[in-house]
Amino acid sequence: MKTELNLLERSYSLFRYPKLANEQLQAWDAGDEYLIQHVEELALPKSSNILILNDNFGALSCWFSKEHKVTTVTDSFVSLQGIKSNLSANQLSGVTLLNSTDAWPSDIDLVLMQIPRNNRYLTWQLDQLAQKYAGRCQLIAVNKAKEIHSSTLKLFEKFAGSTTTSLAWKKHRLVFTELSRAAQKPAVEAYTTWPVEGHELTLANLPNVYSGESLDLGARFMLEHLSKLDADNKDVVDLGCGNGVLSIKLKQLSPTARITAVDESFMASASAKHNFKLNQLDDAQCKFITNNCLDGFEAASQDRVICNPPFHQQQAVTDHIAWQMFCDAKHVLRPKGELMVIGNRHLGYDKKLTRLFGKHNVKLVASNAKFVILQATK
Ligand SMILES: C[S@@+](CC[C@H](N)C(=O)[O-])C[C@H]1O[C@@H](n2cnc3c(N)ncnc32)[C@H](O)[C@@H]1O
Repeated sequence: MKTELNLLERSYSLFRYPKLANEQLQAWDAGDEYLIQHVEELALPKSSNILILNDNFGALSCWFSKEHKVTTVTDSFVSLQGIKSNLSANQLSGVTLLNSTDAWPSDIDLVLMQIPRNNRYLTWQLDQLAQKYAGRCQLIAVNKAKEIHSSTLKLFEKFAGSTTTSLAWKKHRLVFTELSRAAQKPAVEAYTTWPVEGHELTLANLPNVYSGESLDLGARFMLEHLSKLDADNKDVVDLGCGNGVLSIKLKQLSPTARITAVDESFMASASAKHNFKLNQLDDAQCKFITNNCLDGFEAASQDRVICNPPFHQQQAVTDHIAWQMFCDAKHVLRPKGELMVIGNRHLGYDKKLTRLFGKHNVKLVASNAKFVILQATK
């Protein structure tokens, strides 16, 4: 697996985050290379102000920070850590790093974007760009050609301005948009809010929150099987909390629970915090943290971990995060503490949990045609 980006007689060492011993995936893609080569041909004046949205692990931030003033925005804590460590490993500094809930700078000459997977997040970013920079700069975005559908380009046209595309190069395509404010454009709200049928709760979702437009089917099944804690003042972690749906249900069942909701998406942890207030829950004893799994958490500090694990990270389908989550959960649980996990049947989480907790300590709580809920006791 390549870790040296060699392009136009420059070279950077780039790693994904966290660094894995047997990493199979590169920290940048041909889309980054295409964007870099195109922007270099533009020969921008030195020290131009460049805004970079959704840089994966810092290829774009590293490259453009050599000659320009770069502001990089990401919703991903994992990406942010990767960008930071790649900047420092390549002795680069001066990049302003923002998370997705921060305000963007007003003085920008060019915007570069890795097009996000989630169309609601894309729409929101396009709308923000048009509102802030209309008539003042161009957006150049990139993605795999097969991910750029005519419906994607319609979003660019509708929310950001007049749009053209490049030829494909190494299966990637560039999208060029002259940012402008369309006369009649629907308003794009930051939060999408809906009630959860059958449960007394309402969920508000910032644009990049997982399953932000309807309840995840796994979460729905888990809601039916979450049980009240067996005593007051217990410590619980909701690992990969998304909009906080599981934390909120648990807090309704056990009002004295001290809940820590953790997600690697800044918009998720912010939405979970917002949703405690929206559902009139007392959050004085609760925390909402943006983190990579449970990095830095104290060992043996929790009574229960609840988890609906992800099975992809950015564009890559992977089960290393679920494994990391289970290992971290075991580490933070007190003896006799419980990890409760929901997953698709075919994912084989039972084998992973058995390996970690021992056969006799893993039990099936519930199952249906699609999902299993498992409980592992430390
Ligand atoms: C399947 S969703 C579950 C969301 C919510 N708990 C639910 O049940 O609807 C998995 C969540 O894990 C988060 N996630 C992915 N990688 C993570 C990581 N390394 N550390 C913490 N959270 C992560 C995702 O952002 C996503 O919100």
